[in-house]
Amino acid sequence: MRKKLFIPGPVEVVPEILQAMATPMVGHRMAEYAVLHRGVKEKLKRLLETDTRVFLATSSAFGVMEGAVRNLVGKRCANFCNGAFSDKWHDVTRRCGKEADAIKVAWGEPVTPELVDATLATGRYDAITLIHNETSTGVMSPLPEIAAVLRRYPEVVSIIDTVSSMSAFRIPVDELGIDCCIFGVQKAFALPPGMAVFTASDKALDRCKTIEGRGYYFDFLEFAAADEKDNTPSTPCISQIYAMDLQLDRMFAEGLDARWKRHQAMADHVRGWVADRGYGFFPAAPYRSVTLTCAANTRGDDLGALKKRMGERGYAFDDGYGKIKGKTFRIPHMGDMQLADLEEFLSVLDELLSPS
Ligand SMILES: Cc1ncc(COP(=O)(O)O)c(C=O)c1O
Repeated sequence: MRKKLFIPGPVEVVPEILQAMATPMVGHRMAEYAVLHRGVKEKLKRLLETDTRVFLATSSAFGVMEGAVRNLVGKRCANFCNGAFSDKWHDVTRRCGKEADAIKVAWGEPVTPELVDATLATGRYDAITLIHNETSTGVMSPLPEIAAVLRRYPEVVSIIDTVSSMSAFRIPVDELGIDCCIFGVQKAFALPPGMAVFTASDKALDRCKTIEGRGYYFDFLEFAAADEKDNTPSTPCISQIYAMDLQLDRMFAEGLDARWKRHQAMADHVRGWVADRGYGFFPAAPYRSVTLTCAANTRGDDLGALKKRMGERGYAFDDGYGKIKGKTFRIPHMGDMQLADLEEFLSVLDELLSPS
């Protein structure tokens, strides 16, 4: 039985978008592709509020997350770690042969501006990685406040993962001064997986020029050169770029402000449900994510059994990630999901949770 996705990515994709992916193919060195590429890039710049470069990569987010550390870490990287994906990014940074430290925060807690300041004040680092919205724990770190601290360290290149927040939350890349902002498309963008988007400031590109061992597939300088011709270094995922083009139009038709408010309203609804049913929250109130709620299983429910029964009813339910699986569960509220979808899902959960 097909299960309707209520997991924090990939998320449900509307039929219109799936149809856009069936658009007849063009060659990526044909003029038609350059028109498509340029259009998507311009729309992304509007969404990201940036005048610098926006690149399209054919990979999941971790392809670019690895590429970014290969391209941008010179001396030493501070990897801020507060969950499974940020922990993994530290591991990836080390596997790329870079000098790096994991600046650890307990899972469920945010990375704070004070921690970033204290870390950078040591003068040891020329790059940082930070995940804005840790999907494993449902924690959203205070990006504007962190960005204000980062602006005081011009020698440091900031690499920020907005994988599960971009488009659900305002992230004005230039105003914040983010050097490299990275996201995949299968979460708040509600596209099928397989594509990632990233930005590169002048400072980031200058840094690349000083770095050996950037490789080829994710060499940012290759992306910058191809971009001059509205193109990509290697054959891109053209079907997905058609879908992205339509999805950006759909976002602007909804209105970005309305989109951010819809995400907030869905988050409020789910938080209300969690509290009413007697569960706790894994993150503290100010840091709860706007795109997913990570509930603490304070009732001690058998989440594995619940997941199985939800599956039998046609819903994919998430029973926690990594070391907090079973102790927490995550309810996504992102992408093209509407309040009515959540109400439907929560009513089935209620049915299964009520004593028979
Ligand atoms: C915050 C965050 N960063 C990175 C990733 C990794 O993305 P991908 O599996 O698309 O490479 C995920 C995936 O869930 C994520 O939530």
